[in-house]
Amino acid sequence: MPTNHATTHTSSRSHAAPRTRKAPAADAIKLLRADHAEVKKLFAEYEKLAKAEAPADEREALALDICNKLTVHAQIEEEIFYPACRDVLQEKDDLLDEATVEHASAKDLIAQLQSSSPDDDLYDAKVKVLGEYIDHHVKEEQNELFPKVRPKLDRKDLGEQLQARKDELLARLDGTH
Ligand SMILES: [Fe+2]
Ligand SMILES: [Fe+2]
Repeated sequence: MPTNHATTHTSSRSHAAPRTRKAPAADAIKLLRADHAEVKKLFAEYEKLAKAEAPADEREALALDICNKLTVHAQIEEEIFYPACRDVLQEKDDLLDEATVEHASAKDLIAQLQSSSPDDDLYDAKVKVLGEYIDHHVKEEQNELFPKVRPKLDRKDLGEQLQARKDELLARLDGTH
């Protein structure tokens, strides 16, 4: 008889298809910061590949991974985090307007990358510019937006919502491969 080591729940309710729960939901700001750190690392990896003139398929796989992660991140911010920030900041906030415009520009570069290939002379340059652009955007979020909203948000509840939506969007991406 197999024993289930995956869950430590003692709940008597068993679901047909239990969702594997990862680590307990981080607070919203920690979750977004972790996403930022993850893509920063991937951009640095890409730069190494570009310098080493790595094969096209390797560069493309990494670039597309970065694009997917950024797309999901931008979407959960736009759907969940930014509206929550707008609520707590009440007055119209330029930071959030600018962040939304920056997302749109990043998405434009992402779309260009997704529709081109590493054979394109500008491919590496596009990844690099996207990285610089995201770096700038992340600094504004972390240095300006987050400190402003941090004390006012229900970060745990928001973190759970962000994590759930993120899992859902990532699963959908996996399904399309
Ligand atoms: Fe953002
Ligand atoms: Fe962000």
